Amino acid sequence: MFRLVIFVAACVALAAARRSPNADYVEDLMKSPEGSRFSDNINEDALLDVVIHNVVTSDGYILELHRIPHGRGDTPGDRPAVLLVHGLLSSSADYLIMGPGNALGYLLADAGYDVWLGNARGNYYSRQHISLNPDSILNKDFWRFSWDQIGLYDLPAFIDYILKINGQDKLHYIGHSQGGTSFLVLNSLRPEYNEKFISFQGLAPASFFDNNENTMFNTLANYESILETTAFALNAQEIFGSQDFITRHCVEGSIFNNFCQSALSGLFNREYYNSTMLPVILGHTPAGAAIRQVAHYGQVIRSNSFRRYNYNALTNLREYGSLTPPEYNLSLVTAPAYLHYGLADRQVDYRDLLKLANILPNVVKVNQAERETFNHFDFLWAMDVKEVMYDDIVASMRHAELNL
Ligand SMILES: *[C@@H]1O[C@H](CO)[C@@H](O)[C@H](O)[C@H]1NC(C)=O
Ligand SMILES: *[C@@H]1O[C@H](CO)[C@@H](O)[C@H](O)[C@H]1NC(C)=O
Repeated sequence: MFRLVIFVAACVALAAARRSPNADYVEDLMKSPEGSRFSDNINEDALLDVVIHNVVTSDGYILELHRIPHGRGDTPGDRPAVLLVHGLLSSSADYLIMGPGNALGYLLADAGYDVWLGNARGNYYSRQHISLNPDSILNKDFWRFSWDQIGLYDLPAFIDYILKINGQDKLHYIGHSQGGTSFLVLNSLRPEYNEKFISFQGLAPASFFDNNENTMFNTLANYESILETTAFALNAQEIFGSQDFITRHCVEGSIFNNFCQSALSGLFNREYYNSTMLPVILGHTPAGAAIRQVAHYGQVIRSNSFRRYNYNALTNLREYGSLTPPEYNLSLVTAPAYLHYGLADRQVDYRDLLKLANILPNVVKVNQAERETFNHFDFLWAMDVKEVMYDDIVASMRHAELNL
C-alpha cells in the first residue's frame, strides 16, 4: 500500500504542476505564426521544416500531427509517407530530439520519406477536445481513455488525414512500445485498416507481459483495480503532465526521490546515452498520459491476456456484449510486420515480443539488436542507435516496398 500512496501522491503533484520552460520554448518555436520553423536549439544546422497539422478524432479529441515533408536540400514531391507513434508518457519529440543525422524522424526525411509524427490524446501536444476540458475538476471525462481509444480513434484520424494529404493509398507505420500496442488494437478491431500499411515497424511493441520482471509494473498491476478510482478521486487522472517533474522532484532530499529512482531505473543505458542531451530529453519526457493507460497495462499484466479495458461487469456487457473484456484478436492483424527488439529491454521483455511474433499471422522479419545491452529506451536515445537499429528499420521499409 505504501508504494501506491507514493505513486498517487506523485500523480497529484504532477497534476498540479504544468509545463517546463524548456518544452515551452520548443513549442513556442513550433507554433510561431510564420509556419512553424523548428530547429532543435542544440543543433544549429537543424533547418528542416516541421509543420503542425491538427486532426479531430470521431470522438472529438483535437490532436497534433507534426510533419517533415522532405529531407534537407530536397524539394517537395511524391514520396511514401511514414507515421511514427510514440510510447506511453511520450510525444512526437521522441523522434526528433536527438537532432538531424541522429533522430529517426530526420533520418527518414533524409532517406526520402514524407514523415509524420503523431501525438496521442492526452499528451502535451494533444490536450484539446471540441467540448471536454482537460483542466476541469468538475467533469473529468476528457481523461477517461486508455490506449484502446488511441488505437480505435486517434490512429484512424491520423492515417486518413495523412493519406489524403500525401495522395498515396498506403503508408508505413512505426510504433514504439505503446505506439505498437495501439497499432495492434486498431488492426484487430478495425481490420479494414490492415491494407493501408506498406509495413508495420514495431519497436518493442507492447502486448504480452507473461515474462515481465519489472518490479514497478508488477506493483502497479497489483493495484490496478483501485488505481483509476483513487487517482480520479485525488484529481490525478492526468499523470506526468509536466515535464519538469523529474528535474524538480527527483533530487536528493525530495520525498519523491525513491519513487523517481525506481521510475527512472532502466530508462537510461548509462554506457550509451549522451549526458549532454539529458536536459533536452528530460525537457520532453514524460509528456503526460491518462491514468487509465497505466491501469489498462496493469490489467494486461494481471490477467495475463492482451484484452480490452475491464470496466465492471455491467459496463463490459454494454460496451463489449460480455461480462469480461474480449481479447484483441491478433490473427486479424495481417499488415506486414517487422518486429525489432533488444535483449536488455525491461519494459517489453524479448520473450514476450517473440510470443507476439509467433501469433501475428504476417511477420516478415524479427530483428534483434546486435548489441546485447540494447534496452527499451535505446530505441530513442542511444548514441549508437542509428547503426544498431535505425539502419535496419529503413532497410526493412525498403524491403516492404519491393514486396508491394
Ligand atoms: C552529445 O551531444 C552533443 C550535443 O548534441 C554533441 O555535440 C556531441 O557530439 C554528442 N556526443 C556524442 C559522443 O555523440
Ligand atoms: C479471430 O479471427 C479469426 C480470423 O478471422 C477467426 O477465425 C477467429 O474465430 C477469431 N477469434 C475470436 C476469438 O473471435
